[in-house]
Amino acid sequence: MDRYAVIGNPIAHSKSPLIHGLFAQQTGEQLSYEALLAPLNDFTGTLRTFLQEGLGVNVTVPFKEQAWALADSRTPAAELAGAVNTLKRQADGRLLGDNTDGKGLVRDIEHNAGFTLAGKRILLLGAGGAARGVIQPLLAAGPAQLCVANRTVEKAEQLAMLFKDEGPISAAGFDWLEESVDLIINATSASLDGRLPAIEPTLIQPGHTWCYDMMYASEATVFNRWAAAQGAARCIDGLGMLVEQAAEAFALWRGVRPDTGPVLAVLRQGS
Ligand code: ATR
Repeated sequence: MDRYAVIGNPIAHSKSPLIHGLFAQQTGEQLSYEALLAPLNDFTGTLRTFLQEGLGVNVTVPFKEQAWALADSRTPAAELAGAVNTLKRQADGRLLGDNTDGKGLVRDIEHNAGFTLAGKRILLLGAGGAARGVIQPLLAAGPAQLCVANRTVEKAEQLAMLFKDEGPISAAGFDWLEESVDLIINATSASLDGRLPAIEPTLIQPGHTWCYDMMYASEATVFNRWAAAQGAARCIDGLGMLVEQAAEAFALWRGVRPDTGPVLAVLRQGS
């Protein structure tokens, strides 16, 4: 049986084994997929041991930057993201690193939610690894403007510099933001501890602005509850992004892209 895994710390609550199990069932691919806890100080050891037999891994928090460094070659998406969430052991044993997070986000927004990014004004909150991983695919979708806003403005400015050749990108501090936008994406880790990025409610135009929290939880996230209270036209969580990034990884490994709709429906039922 071809073996795959997701490696992270913590990892116990990962939905990836369920998602990839459903993909395998649907496509008839013969494979197993497990969750592996790596010690914080030995991601490399866990990875190498698994890859003696395993064909590929997904990598999650906090090891994506280490996975980037360990890859022998990287896709352009991974190169720009500075992080790798998918590794594939190639026939010659070399490790190919990809980052499917951004592709997954764009696919969820455009295909699942039906929101066209081209020509839109987008505000991306946060300038950490999660934000960096999605900027290039967002710009490739052709928005009128992508503004990266961060509590620490210098980090947003660094990202805007890094991606300046990829499309119309700007940087801001939270208190510089005034005009409402078409879409706000929360890529801060604030939701993790139940906090809200300190942005003005006026950035949401009631009945018009869509909000997307890259986090997900069984109940609406703090950010999405706040956005709904401001009259956001739609509030979406990151579960669809999780399934779509998994589908991209599956396609890289197996050469077949699963139908994500039924899998997302199963996850929504269970959450
Ligand atoms: P990740 O890989 O999840 O992006 P990270 O690289 O540690 O994690 O980045 C966390 C991001 O969330 C940063 O943009 C951080 O803002 P700062 O750069 O100013 O620290 C943002 N963040 C975390 N907690 C936040 C909060 N309570 N309000 C606003 N932004 C927050």
